[in-house]
Amino acid sequence: MKRRLLIIGVLMMTLSLIGIVRAQDLSGQLEIFSWWSGDEGPALEALIALYNSQNPNVEVINATVTGGSGVNAKAVLKTRMLGGTPPDTFQVHAGQELTGTWVVAGRMQDLSGLYAEQGWNEAFPPDLIDLLTVDGAIYSVPVNIHRSNVLWYNPAKVEEWGVSVPATWDEFLAACPTLQAAGVTPLVVGEAWTVNHLWESVALGILGADGWNGIWTGATPANSPEMVAVWNRFSEILACSNVGADSAGLSWQQAVDKVLAGEAAFNIMGDWAAGYMSTTLGLEPGVGFGFAPAPDTAGSFMWLSDSFGLPVGAPNPDNTLAWLSLLGSVEGQNAFNPLKGSIPARTDAVAAAPDLYNAYLQSAAEDWAGNRLVGSLAHGVAANERFMGDFNTVMEVFIASGSAEAAASAMSAVCITSGACAGA
Ligand code: GAL
Repeated sequence: MKRRLLIIGVLMMTLSLIGIVRAQDLSGQLEIFSWWSGDEGPALEALIALYNSQNPNVEVINATVTGGSGVNAKAVLKTRMLGGTPPDTFQVHAGQELTGTWVVAGRMQDLSGLYAEQGWNEAFPPDLIDLLTVDGAIYSVPVNIHRSNVLWYNPAKVEEWGVSVPATWDEFLAACPTLQAAGVTPLVVGEAWTVNHLWESVALGILGADGWNGIWTGATPANSPEMVAVWNRFSEILACSNVGADSAGLSWQQAVDKVLAGEAAFNIMGDWAAGYMSTTLGLEPGVGFGFAPAPDTAGSFMWLSDSFGLPVGAPNPDNTLAWLSLLGSVEGQNAFNPLKGSIPARTDAVAAAPDLYNAYLQSAAEDWAGNRLVGSLAHGVAANERFMGDFNTVMEVFIASGSAEAAASAMSAVCITSGACAGA
């Protein structure tokens, strides 16, 4: 298949050089697999509309499986990949979710020829390309950069309750009784994965950027006193949340809705929440919704990147290559990101059309350029799927038992069985 792709690539390059093949000559289908459905759909739909206008004879199948952070989509994808019926392309996070899961299993095709053809080695940050690369081969095309460690709130409500936006967890815990007395949930979380999402911001706050990165190199052992301190602090924070009440039944959007409605004061979520509030709900950043770094994490940008690749056995590889070319272009990134709540992965796209980016996105772009960067666990950068699956169990055990020591020791075991904490 590698050979077939190489031949297609060389052929397309040669033909396009002599002007014979134009994008509109493509036909057949393109199945794009992701979890961007419903409220999460507009950015992807804008990109598909652009693809349709460039390739009117290709029928795009927008195959989505609902569920934040891909909880359901990843299970369906696994069945399809292992069953030999891969989609033409699928959403996959840059980092270990790609390399430690699909590349290591030999399921993805090398796109380094496309990178060279499109000039992407200069357009994307080298550190990001590194996380898509194994043995010199590059396996996906990043469409965006999202930030995980963001605190969201409703400015009018926070003022009404007389609390300030917490810069530290100490400040948050001090405000917690006031909010509870007012009948407000101090911190709202949703279904299980959003609890993991909160955990990574809490851990970053306690450990700092070096300590967080050290989890994945072995420098911060999962059963160290620092990690026990993370779980203890997490426990204090959960006591000021709706965990154990209505959290399990809430999607991330419903958790955000509770903040906007004034039923909850704060929520920690990735900046797809900014996309939801600005694109879907039409709110203005800084007015309709407020944002700040998650407590104790100012100066660190916990990042993740959505990317798409070409699986081995994809039925329509030439249509996929055209899709990937669009994803990686300035035009594609600027069609997608302003709606999604993310910033472009390309370093030159915001400058090409700054007016497309609202106040939140401008501030994210500034922080991405100036902050310490650390990879998200909950969204695939830091650890492989094996670790993530077992970490869900660690979290369940912790929530049921409340024991920080037990959680630290269980996480340490998961580190060993998954091999995720040894700098692999
Ligand atoms: C993340 C993904 C985001 C957004 C979010 C909520 O994993 O990277 O683009 O879709 O899940 O579903």
